Formats: sequence, structure tokens, C-alpha cells
Amino acid sequence: MPCPSRSDELVFFVNGRKVIERNADPEVTLLMRLTGTKYACGRGGCGACTVMVSKRDPTSQEIRHFSVTACLVPICSLYGAAVTTVEGVGSMKTRLHPCRIAKSHGTQCGFCTPGMVMSMYTLLRNHPQPSEEQLLEALGGNLCRCAGYRPILASGKTFCLESNGCQQKGTGKCCLDLGENDSSSLGRKSDVSPFALSSPQEYHLTPTRMTENPEKRTLTFHGERVTWISPGTFKDLLELKAKHPEAPLILGNTSLGPAMRSKGCLYPILLSPARISELNVVSKTNDGLTIGAGCSLAQVKDILAERVSELPEEKTQTYRALLKHLKSLASQQIRNMASLGGHIISRHSYSDLNPILAVGNATLNLTSEEGTRRIPLSEHFLAGLASADLKPEEILESVYIPHSQKWEFVSAFRQAQCQQNALPDVNAGMRVLFKEGTDIIEDLSITYGGVGAATVSAHKSCQQLLGRQWDELMLDEACRRLLDEVSLPGWAPGGRVEFKRTLVVSFFFKFYLQVLQELKKLIKPFPNSRRYPEISDRFLSALEDFPGTVPQGVQRYQSVDSHQPLQDPVGRPVMHLSGLKHATGEAEFCDDIPMVDKELCMALVTSTRAYAKIISVDLSEALEIPGVVDVITAKDIPGINGTKDDKLLAVDEVLCVGQIICAVVAETDVQAKRAIEKIKITYEELEPIIFTIEDAIKHNSFLCPEKKLEQGNIEEAFEKVDQIVEGEVHVGGQEHFYMETQRVLVIPKTEDKELDIYVSTQDPAHVQKTVSSTLNIPINRITCHVKRVGGGFGGKIGRPAVFGAIAAVGALKTGHPIRLVLDREDDMLITGGRHPLFGKYKVGFMNNGRIKALDIECFINGGCTLDDSELVTEFLILKLENAYKIRNLRFRGRACLTNLPSNTAFRGFGFPQGTLVTESCITAVAAKCGLPPEKIREKNMYRTVDKTIYKQAFNPESLIRCWNECLDVSSFHNRRKQAEEFNKKNYWKKRGVAVIPMKFSVGFAATSYHQAAALVHIYTDGSVLVTHGGNELGQGIHTKMLQVASRELKIPMSHLHICETSTAMVPNTIATAASVGADINGKAVQNACQILLKRLEPIIKKNPEGTWEEWIEAAFEQRISLSATGYFRGYKAFMDWEKGEGDPFPYYVYGAACSEVEIDCLTGAHKKIRTDIVMDACCSLNPAIDIGQIEGAFIQGMGLYTTEELKYSPEGVLYSRGPDEYKIPTISDVPEEFNVSLLPSSQTPLTIYSSKGLGESGMFLGSSVFFAITDAVAAARKERDIAEDFTVKSPATPEWVRMACADRFTEMVYICPLPLEPPSHPTPWAIFK
Ligand SMILES: Cc1cc2nc3c(=O)[nH]c(=O)nc-3n(C[C@H](O)[C@H](O)[C@H](O)COP(=O)(O)OP(=O)(O)OC[C@H]3O[C@@H](n4cnc5c(N)ncnc54)[C@H](O)[C@@H]3O)c2cc1C
Ligand code: FES
Ligand code: FES
Repeated sequence: MPCPSRSDELVFFVNGRKVIERNADPEVTLLMRLTGTKYACGRGGCGACTVMVSKRDPTSQEIRHFSVTACLVPICSLYGAAVTTVEGVGSMKTRLHPCRIAKSHGTQCGFCTPGMVMSMYTLLRNHPQPSEEQLLEALGGNLCRCAGYRPILASGKTFCLESNGCQQKGTGKCCLDLGENDSSSLGRKSDVSPFALSSPQEYHLTPTRMTENPEKRTLTFHGERVTWISPGTFKDLLELKAKHPEAPLILGNTSLGPAMRSKGCLYPILLSPARISELNVVSKTNDGLTIGAGCSLAQVKDILAERVSELPEEKTQTYRALLKHLKSLASQQIRNMASLGGHIISRHSYSDLNPILAVGNATLNLTSEEGTRRIPLSEHFLAGLASADLKPEEILESVYIPHSQKWEFVSAFRQAQCQQNALPDVNAGMRVLFKEGTDIIEDLSITYGGVGAATVSAHKSCQQLLGRQWDELMLDEACRRLLDEVSLPGWAPGGRVEFKRTLVVSFFFKFYLQVLQELKKLIKPFPNSRRYPEISDRFLSALEDFPGTVPQGVQRYQSVDSHQPLQDPVGRPVMHLSGLKHATGEAEFCDDIPMVDKELCMALVTSTRAYAKIISVDLSEALEIPGVVDVITAKDIPGINGTKDDKLLAVDEVLCVGQIICAVVAETDVQAKRAIEKIKITYEELEPIIFTIEDAIKHNSFLCPEKKLEQGNIEEAFEKVDQIVEGEVHVGGQEHFYMETQRVLVIPKTEDKELDIYVSTQDPAHVQKTVSSTLNIPINRITCHVKRVGGGFGGKIGRPAVFGAIAAVGALKTGHPIRLVLDREDDMLITGGRHPLFGKYKVGFMNNGRIKALDIECFINGGCTLDDSELVTEFLILKLENAYKIRNLRFRGRACLTNLPSNTAFRGFGFPQGTLVTESCITAVAAKCGLPPEKIREKNMYRTVDKTIYKQAFNPESLIRCWNECLDVSSFHNRRKQAEEFNKKNYWKKRGVAVIPMKFSVGFAATSYHQAAALVHIYTDGSVLVTHGGNELGQGIHTKMLQVASRELKIPMSHLHICETSTAMVPNTIATAASVGADINGKAVQNACQILLKRLEPIIKKNPEGTWEEWIEAAFEQRISLSATGYFRGYKAFMDWEKGEGDPFPYYVYGAACSEVEIDCLTGAHKKIRTDIVMDACCSLNPAIDIGQIEGAFIQGMGLYTTEELKYSPEGVLYSRGPDEYKIPTISDVPEEFNVSLLPSSQTPLTIYSSKGLGESGMFLGSSVFFAITDAVAAARKERDIAEDFTVKSPATPEWVRMACADRFTEMVYICPLPLEPPSHPTPWAIFK
């Protein structure tokens, strides 16, 4: 059929408004056209861009509402559909629909919130009163890096059938009933029905009418490079496929989309069969089920669930196995988009469904113009053999999955880094058929995913086991054969080779036990009972998976004094100022600023070499690309190009992969990125190239001199102790993974070289200063604006200045505004993160557990430039003692210079890594003394007023209170006993418990870094504008500042407003960091308000009954200045490193956390049973916000210690550059019971209203999960008689846990060596830095 040369009109609806695109480009995704909806990864992996799509099902003709990730939805796929975005479900102007998430304190930076709201909204659209499981499933694909998920779930739970509200405060009441800071008129459930839309349901009716008479004509959309053809009939589809055999079918675009994006695949023609009903047909027969290839995985899940409910169990073995994986495969959004056909045809090696379909003897129904035929979904098909594959002109019409039968068993297995929303490391489908009435294997199929380039069938092993009985002998032989057949070379992509091989046999063992159980039920009494010894209950624990459980928890904090005036908000759980705007999508982030006149886009060109001379840079081809305006190089910098060792743009050499060399400026982002591909850079490799800490030590490659603290006489003490233990600890790095990537918009003004810079940063003054020195213009011409930042965690202190300066050079050179938005991949590649650490310790102690001497030496991987590495080393050393009083101490630390991107500040600033070494020493001492670790902790903890290793006096009373309270509220000792009992009864599952104390020092070790300023204007209508030097990163600083101003000025918060942080309003600000932002800026705001109130005093005295507005009017009449600057000179802080003495920190935050976990020794998976945190917040300014900080930091810490793993290639290229390879915790990682208490009524007169800064400290408490995991691993090792002291490695990933729980299967892996394939000494796929 002829393909028209003109594009059709693309018609769809967004929030009820008809959109007509006359020149729709197939390469444009829905996200590119939306406001409010957020970009955070562009790969469907984070859920930030979730919207709801409503479409008429081509077969049932019913309207389906489903959530999708807009970044993977080509606009051309939306013909006739309705899209609902966060802006469509409510706004501040209309009735607020999605306010609950804000009211439950479920928003911090708010960048993830629009996506969360849309996932929840879609759920409620389909299930007005969902179950808690449905809620968990709906939110499983939405990442949040700030809020720790608990309050988000709490808000969702208020809609659930079984919910009693959120149980805030431990009062048993829902926060929504408390009415505090209720800034909207909405109340409980009945008011906030999911259908209470501002213009009800109209949004969804329009497309219904449109598609009642679906058009049958073919639609064509021509883009710049790609043509989209959407036939209206099956016949036309087959004809088009015959005409364009090379053109892929595009269904969910979840496989094609990421490939086109990351691998640069380009398909000039895409065929969209979205309107073809034949691909959605489902038919049930007596022997099986046929499912249309166009059905989404979510639909497949429903179809299978229905069939399982209708048929006897024996017939639904394959369906159950598929259902098991369909629950954990990707996210709800991806399952809604991805099609069964796309999944099968993509043949990803990690495919969760193909291994099961293969063992379940599924067949593929293929159709072309020539006719139809069937092929088996066999190992040959999965391997892509041409003889077993589709012909180019064929399409997959449907998939036939036969019923299972009696004496047949099918199972599915899967292990991933996290339970939910994570690609599997290894998965498997296994099926066995027995000769009727016997345990003789008649047929056996085993297929694995994740162990090769394609799904792998262990066909040979299975054939050799036919005729065997299902017994231990068979198990043993099967394992050896499987290891032999499913071979993985040492350099296999994805790495984790030994772990994967162990899973190959561990899964089979699980299958063996499952089938044994079933056989026993079928054959009773079994004729030859000798072969069927009872499986002892201890071993049955191998069979249970960890089901997803909806977390519960209680948050406790003290109420404000009953005499406190009602108007005074200090100490009350006031909702985040921007909470409602986050929830409605109205909160504006840097990249939400509408396009400005003549704006250009910038994209960065980075080094592909780790250490090399730049020989040449050829820009010619790039400059020829249409739309490309210029390429900015170091030569264009009129001022200073960074520092000698840390250049903004590389000049002669590069020091790491990811170093910025130049920047393309183009009319569009797409053009700029295309130009990058055309820039040719030649390099000459330099030596030595160093990546790891071990290599840096070997080459004596360090960034700064050693930092050292010492007290007592360590050598003498070692001579007098009963025992000495030495050990090593490895702590991996961490990526900030703020949801909003780095972004900046630079607008040059026409006069006086002035620049306005809108930037996502924690330190606008640093951006301003860097731009000034780069452009060689005075600081007073540059204004930096920060409205809000979508998460920072330390990663937006130093780096934004680099991006701001490069964009400013572009703006100056071209005279145009420049927008630079980093892709997630580039952000992760370029910016660096938390320093990895290698620690060596030597600890001397008495047999009763008293530690007499501790010597710790730490090395951190600083990367290729100094950045904050020296400071991090200093803080690490200062904080290493944690909560312990040890008389003889020596702490040393060095920052290594390597050829990796420079590591930088990260929440906790060295403390979370370093203190893991200290706590590991405690665990090692406990193991040697035969005492539980908590006893050693207690014995060595500070008890009375004392001095730290650097001679700073402090009172540890609150530390002891937190510790005791934590032991008490967590019923620690009882639970320790119960865990031990559990461990005795279960061989393959082990529980671990750990309680960790914390003494965390806040602040910078220099007085000048604690200064702050504020500017408060009172306007003549009585409204007040507050500006201060802190930046809103999600931590609620603006909310707290208005609470302070409200108390000081004695006016309600509704009179007060904060617009933004601006260097023009408050100059010379300090980075918002080190947990003291609210403390120091609060003091400055207080000061400004007190000055103003003092000025107003005579007026108030004269008219005490007057109103605020009347006083202000009078003050204006009397020419009293209504504007004041407040200033705080800062806490005194200093450190003398020569003497090893000082008062570096204004105060300490104390806390304790107890966590309990259960591990699966066969897979390395774990579930978090419970966490209790007790934190000393003194008099919290805002307990809801502070608890949010504690929970969020705890979950981030848990990620650091359990799942977040950075992998580099042997050439120094970061592999983990997105949410699919780098796993931050998801909603299902929250402990099943998660309780947080603030210690009541302690005081610290130093700070504003005796509050404490809690931004960072909770991070380290995440280590309680790590130590609970190592406790469980130790229990397993003890039982298996393996040494209890093992090298501590963080993160405790499933790989580490599985391999540490050594058993017969890990042994088999080591005994059956890897096949030696060339090269004989393979370079591993990844290196651990
Ligand atoms: C964030 C994310 C997480 C994921 N997690 C997992 C996971 O945990 N486990 C897992 O197994 N998978 C996972 N996946 C992969 C996902 O399952 C597949 O991408 C998806 O099933 C592909 O379906 P699609 O409709 O989107 O295919 P598309 O991208 O639309 O198409 C893929 C290919 O299939 C071909 N094709 C499609 N339909 C037909 C047909 N009827 N006839 C002939 N050819 C056809 C197309 O030509 C194309 O080449 C994930 C994907 C993403 C994006
Ligand atoms: S899922 Fe679309 S931006 Fe992350
Ligand atoms: S509030 Fe979720 S990412 Fe910040």
C-alpha cells in the first residue's frame, strides 16, 4: 500500500484539551510536550514522569485507564487517547484533589510527587477503594530519594478499604483529622473522592466519543528521520510488514525506546499495530490459552489470574509461575505499556517470562501475507537461530500456552538486587513431568535467564536426567551437570559470575524441594519410602519467598507546651510550604521555567579515556549539523578556567572518563546531542592509570597529606590486652541520585554584562563567584536564583558552579540564553558521589569485651581532583570514634588520587563510611569474646561528661537515653532471643538483629561557615516577605523559617511568604549543608524579625488592641523602616590539626536504631522485618519535617549499605548510569514495621529554640540493617561451621550475602571451575573501586 507523503493530523487529549499535532515527529515522546510532569531518567525506571492514559481497548471496546511513563511514550502512539497529567487532577486554584500526600508529609523536595500522585490517581480511578497490596504495587515503580516512602504510603493508605488512616503521632489518629496546618478546606475521605475533579470526568469522555467509530484508514506521521505508520486493519498491517520487512513493530516501546536512546539505534520506519484488534484476542480452549501478542503484560496478568481461579491447580502450573514473575517484573507503569509480543520478540537475556514460556512449551502463532504458521518458543528461537525465528515479513499474532497436567510441576525463580522494580540477576523456569504414579522423570526442562547473551536452556543436562528418580542422588548429579552446561566466562557481561553460578544450582535445589513436597502429597504412602525421607521442618524454609508486605509504623514526638499560643507554629507538625504545589505539579523547578526568547540548549562532550593527552579535537562535522550554533571550548573562556588541577573544560589532558572537554550549543536538545556524536577527539594514553584504592596505595597516589588523631599510648596498650583482632572493611561509593538532575538556565541581559542564573544548587553564591571568575566580570553583575532544588544531598554544592560557568560562557559567546539539563546518564557519569572507603583496623581488648586500644587507618577514593576530599578525610577522622570512649586511639586517613570522576560531599560527609569500620571492629570483638555485639557497644560507650579524641567536651546523657529507649521500644532483648530460636529452627533462612548507637557532630569545623543572613520586608498591607541564605532542598527550610518569623512577629504563617533564594537579596551565603541550614538561617531570620518588632514596639504600645495591619499602616505613616537585615555571626568552631585539638562542632545529635532482618541463604535476598529509631531532636522546630528527614536519611543509608553498587569497567567507564543498573531503595524496601521516636524534652540552649539539625545523621542509622544482615550471615556461618570473622563489605548485596553463606552449592561452584576460554586470564567485567 502506498505510503502518503504528507503527515496525518495527530489528535489526542491532554487534561481534556484537544491537541492537534500537524507535524508529529515519531521521535518525540509525550514527556517532551508536558509541563508539571518530571524528567528524571528517561528510561522508564523512576516513575517521575508518570501520567495516566485512557484508551479504548480495540477488542472489548471498553475504556482502559492505565499509568505509563511519559518518557517512553511516543506522541504518535497516542492517537485518539486521553492523557491525564498531574495538572489535570487538581490545582491550588480549583479543588485540590491530590492533597493527601502533602498533608501526610509525603513530599520533601517534591520532584517525585507528580509521578507518585499520578500512580495513585490511576489506581483510584480503577479501584476507588484499593487494597494495601494494590497500593504497594501501584507505587512500586515510583522512586523517591528524599521522603523514605513511609509517609507517601500513609497518604495512599487513607484511601484503602482496610485503612484506619495514617496513625500519626502514635495517637492512633489519622493526621488528616488533626487539622493542624490544614491550609485547604478538605477533610476526610468522603471529601476527597478520587473523582472529585475540578471538571469531573469530562477528560475521559472525549476520547470515548472519538473512538466509538474507530477509523480503519492507515495513519502516517513523518518526522525528521523516522516515519510512523499505523494501519487500521490487520490486512494492511501484514501488507505493510511485507513491504517494510526491516521495520519493527512498535507496541509498548519499552524495549525499542531505551535501545534507540542509549544505543543510538535508528529505525526509519516504525509500524504501530495499536489499533489492530486481532492482536488483542484471547481465547480459552480445553487444553490451553491463546493470548494476543498485543496484550499488555498487565492484561496478561489479569487474564492468567482469571484462568487460575477457574481451573484446577494441576492445569495452571505454568500460569502460576508466570503470575509470580509478572508481579515483580518491572513496575506497574512498564507492565501497562509493555506487550507480550514485544517481550517475547525482544528476547532480552534477562527476560522473566521467556524461560517459563519455554519450559511450559508455549508456541508462537505467526502471520504474514503468505499465511499462518506455528513455531515453538524453543531454545533455538530464544538463541535467535534463523531457522527457528520469525521471517522478516512475519508478525507474532498470539501466543499459545498449554495447560499443565497431573504429575507435572512448573516453577519460576528470580533474584535481583532489590525485590521490586529491578532487573533480575538470574531467573529460571523449571518443569518436570513424572511417569504417572511414580517419581521417575519422564520430561524435564530447565531454562535460565541472565547467564548469557540470551535465555539459556540446560537441554543436555535435562536429557541426561530422564528416567532418573527424584532423589538426592539425582539432585547432586543435576547440579554438577547444570554447572557444566550453563557456563559463564569470568568476564561475562554483568559480572557477578560466581554468584550467578551459585544461583543456577540454588534455584534447582529449591525446585527439587518444592517438587518433593508435591510428590509426597500425590504419592501416599510412597512405595519406596526409603527414597523419601521427611524433609525436616528446618529445611522447608528454603521454599518460602519473601512476600511484599505493606509497611506499618508509628512516629512519636512530644506535643508543644499547652501554654504556647495557638498562633505560634514552632514545634508543631506544619506541612511543607510547597507540599500542596508539589502534589498538584504547580511547584516550579529550574527546568519548568518556560522557554525564554532565543533560548539555546547545551550538551556536554566528555572524555572517553581515563588518563590521556588530548591530541586533537575536530569540531567540523558537528558544526555542520542543522541547528548547531557553536561549540564552546576552553579557548572561549575569557577569565579563569577553573583551577590548575580542576579545570572547567579540559585543555591538554583528561584525568577521568566523564571529564568535560567542550559543550555544544544548538537550537534544540536533540540537535546538540546529535552533534556530540560527530565530534572527533584523538587521545594518547598516559600512565599510570589508577582506579582502585589498592592501586593508589601501591603508586603512592594521594590528593593531600595524611590526617591523624591520636590519644593515649597505643603501642603500650596493645601489649597489655588479652586479645588483638585485625581486619579490613570495604565500603562502596554512592551516587547522589537526586531525582532532579543538574540543570541551569543562564539568561544574559543586554546591559552591563548582567546575567540572571536559575540553577538547582545548594550554594548559589559559589555558582555566582565561579561564573564571575570564569567570565572575568564582577560578582555584582550576576544574580543566582534558586526557587527549589529537587534533592541535593551534597551533590549540588560544588558541581552546579561548573555547569553554571560553562553555560555562562556559552551565553556570553552566543548572546543567547542557554539551558543545560543533564541526562541521568551524564549526571551519573560526570559528577562523582560519596567516597568509597577501604579501612584497616587493629583492636586490642580484654576478654570481657572492654576495648583498650584501637588503631584505624582509612583510605578514601577521592577521584581525579581534590574537591572536598581533604575535608571529608578530616571529618571522617574526627567522627570515627562514634559513641565510644576508648583510651588509646589512633585514627589516620588519606584521600587517594585516582582516574575516576572526582568524589564530593554527600550527606554525612565521611561519617557513614568511616563509622562502619568502627562498628565492624565492635562486631569482630564481640565474635572473639563470644558476647553479643550490643554488650560490647554498651561496655565501651561514653557514659559521663567527657572529652572526645580531639578534646571537645560533651555530655553523652542523651546518647545513653536514646540507646536505652531504643532497646526498650524495640523489645530488643526479647527479639534477639526470638531470632535465635528462629535460627535454630530454620536452616536456609536466618534472622539477624542489631542495635547501633550514634554520636553525630553537625556543622562545619570553621566559624565563618556558620554565619548567615536574612532580609525581611513588611509591606504596607501587612504581608511579609522573608528571604534568607538557605536553599530549599526538600528539607523544609523555608517552612521552618516562616515558623520562626511567625513566632517572632507574632503573626500567622499565612501573612508570610518566601519567594526564592537569591544572591541579590542575601549576598555571600554559605552552602546549605552540614545539617545547620535551619539553625543558622533561623537565627538570622529571628534577628531580622526582632529588629522589626523593636521598631514597631512604640506603635503597638500606643494601640495594643490594634491589628497587625493597623500597626504596619501606622509605622509607614511614621516613616519607620519596614525592612531589616538579620545576621548571625556563627557558632564558634575551630580545629588545630597540628595539636590534634579543637572545638570543631557546635553540638552533637545522638540517636540509636535497631533493625531486624531475615535473609534467604540460598539467594542472598533479605527482608527488613522491623526498624526502631530513637533520635534526640531536642525541641524540634517541626517534628513532621524532622521525622521526614530521619526516615529519608535512614532509607538512603540503607541503600548505601545494602543495594547501591557502583560498577566500573576495567577502563574506568561507569556502567551504573541509571535506575536500571543502580538500585536505590524502592517503596518495597521500607521495613515492614518502621517506628521513629523523638527523644522527649532535652535542651540545647545554643541553637534556635533549642532545636537540632537532623538533615544528615539518620543516614548512618541505616547501618543497623547492614549489621542485622551480617548478624544473620554470621548465624548461618556458625551453623555451617565456617569461620565467623569474614571481611566486611558494604553494600551487603544479595551477591555478598549468598556467597558469605557458603554451603554445598557455593562449594560446587568453586569445585567446578569456570571453563577456560581465551584469554586465559580474563579481565573481569567490572572493578570494585
Ligand atoms: C524500566 C524497565 C524495566 C524492565 N524490567 C524488566 C524486568 O524486570 N523483567 C523483564 O523480563 N523485562 C523487563 N523489562 C523489559 C520489558 O519486559 C520489555 O521491554 C517489554 O516486554 C517489551 O515490550 P514492548 O511492547 O514495549 O516492546 P517494543 O519495545 O514495542 O518492541 C520490542 C520489539 O518487539 C518486536 N515486536 C513487538 N511486537 C511484535 C509482534 N507482535 N510481532 C513481531 N514483532 C514484535 C518489535 O519489532 C521490537 O523489535 C523492563 C523494561 C523497562 C523499560
Ligand atoms: S521513568 Fe520517565 S523519567 Fe524516569
Ligand atoms: S520528595 Fe521524593 S524525590 Fe524528593
